[in-house]
Amino acid sequence: MSETVLITGAGRGLGYELARIFYAHQYRVFPLVRTQTAAEELLMEMPYCHPIIADVGEDDCIDSIRTVVGDLTDTVDILINNAGIPGIAYQFSEVTTQEVGELFNVHCLGVIRTVKAVSNYLEQSANPRIINISSRLGSLAMTASGEFNEGGFSYSYRIAKAAQNMLSLCLDQELRKKGIHVSSIHPGKMYTSCASHDANLEPHEAAGSIFAWCQSACSSNTGQFLEPGTGNMPFPW
Ligand SMILES: NC(=O)c1ccc[n+]([C@@H]2O[C@H](COP(=O)([O-])OP(=O)(O)OC[C@H]3O[C@@H](n4cnc5c(N)ncnc54)[C@H](OP(=O)(O)O)[C@@H]3O)[C@@H](O)[C@H]2O)c1
Repeated sequence: MSETVLITGAGRGLGYELARIFYAHQYRVFPLVRTQTAAEELLMEMPYCHPIIADVGEDDCIDSIRTVVGDLTDTVDILINNAGIPGIAYQFSEVTTQEVGELFNVHCLGVIRTVKAVSNYLEQSANPRIINISSRLGSLAMTASGEFNEGGFSYSYRIAKAAQNMLSLCLDQELRKKGIHVSSIHPGKMYTSCASHDANLEPHEAAGSIFAWCQSACSSNTGQFLEPGTGNMPFPW
């Protein structure tokens, strides 16, 4: 039987391309989007997918996810936490606690919510995987080495992705005892609305690399932070 994948932020950008490639390979796809319109557009293109309309920034997404998934299956094989928002402030003088809170809520608390929603379903899988779409910009090692010294990167985004990376490590250490693999991914510098000034990759190319990696090394890369098709990010994350 084909595997089941739940992908957040699947209405556009990388999440949309991931939904397309998993769907094309006969996976049962649960794309999470925020609006009815986005769900209808996905159903036009992928009539056998099962959209979930929810906002990972809100606690009630947990029930929304469980309702849609639980009606159709007791197993989720892959959870891809992709939903994300860019930050605005690049200078400390412009940083607001509100913006940092908003990004932390989506990038870090959003992952906590989706994992709570599907952990029981993941435990039913023969090869369960949680893939958190992080960013090189969340890497403490790369930041400390001066990689981003030229500026032009958001404070809130880097803080939120670093927090998400810590969450990925904590989840890996606990969930690997239950056979659930947790990985953190930098997808590449994509041309999307989250793009940085040095973008060089189409989101469908990144989705292709992530899909290929899911078929091969994903389970053995548990507890790692890597860019599929390229290699591991520097340690410590
Ligand atoms: N672009 C890059 O170069 C790059 C590099 C490294 C990492 N990333 C990461 O890759 C992931 C995908 O980003 P992208 O580049 O594809 O950006 P994107 O085109 O802006 O897509 C972001 C997606 O996340 C969804 N989303 C945002 N907040 C949400 C929420 N509260 N609940 C549910 N869905 C939400 C958006 O939904 P709506 O359509 O409803 O707004 C959209 O579908 C993000 O986690 C991003 O941080 C991107």
